[in-house]
Amino acid sequence: LEQARRPSVIWLSFQECTGCTESLTRSSSPTVENLIFDVISLDYHHTLQAAAGDAAEHAREQAMHANAGDYLVVVDGSLPGPNANPGYSTIAGISNYEMLMETIEGAAAVVAVGSCAAFGGLPMADPNPTGAVAVQDLVKDKPVINVSGCPPVPMVLTGVLAQFLTFGTLPELDQYGRPLAFFGQSIHDRCYRRPFYDKGLFAETFDDEGAKAGWCLYRLGCKGPMTYNACATMKWNSGASWPVEAGYPCLGCSEPNFWDAGGFYKAL
Ligand code: SF4
Ligand code: SF4
Ligand code: F3S
Repeated sequence: LEQARRPSVIWLSFQECTGCTESLTRSSSPTVENLIFDVISLDYHHTLQAAAGDAAEHAREQAMHANAGDYLVVVDGSLPGPNANPGYSTIAGISNYEMLMETIEGAAAVVAVGSCAAFGGLPMADPNPTGAVAVQDLVKDKPVINVSGCPPVPMVLTGVLAQFLTFGTLPELDQYGRPLAFFGQSIHDRCYRRPFYDKGLFAETFDDEGAKAGWCLYRLGCKGPMTYNACATMKWNSGASWPVEAGYPCLGCSEPNFWDAGGFYKAL
């Protein structure tokens, strides 16, 4: 793998909170160091690149020209749509919309990382003051792979990149454009608290005896039955834990519209 030519990745960060990049830096297999030094050529990334200003924009343009037709564009964050005020979000004086459309021109595919890029996320939540839209609302002539989650599980992203590098193929996707291998089962399908759900044993408050005994969090608002993601098996921070294991109900953060769809905790 390491002998292969490292594919160029251009990472665009638009209306985002840097949580998706924070998550990527916690990938353990491969680690982010292994990924960017040995596996891919990360030619543009605001948070991780050394260059700034003109040099950074020049690196982006150079990567596009040198790898025309086979580079990947990764996007985190949503962006103001074509009819919104372009000044809401700009980089180097270029609106997010213009930068996305210009950068994807020679791309093989676009990976929308995080629920903001995949579905609009927080910036698109009511009242959507910037007229935010998701990447798939704008990119119609390239494959778009949605690696949703707020933030996404880091190894899902590195897994998608590794597949592209190793086989030159893109993953099979579900109805929302998410890789089926990681989003094919619900949180509830793989949750270690499921035996308690099946027995009807539920925590009723965050600190009752049921909560302390690790019972099911459904009555505290867990959206695990309607949420598709790999958290329950891949976990976070090198497999240390995940929300439900830490005592918090799943918010459904990898589903479209989760900010407005009532995912935040409400006891039933
Ligand atoms: Fe931040 Fe979540 Fe949006 Fe990622 S998906 S940029 S973590 S708000
Ligand atoms: Fe399902 Fe949530 Fe209960 Fe786990 S905690 S079994 S995901 S309802
Ligand atoms: Fe998100 Fe639920 Fe996983 S809130 S991080 S999909 S457990």
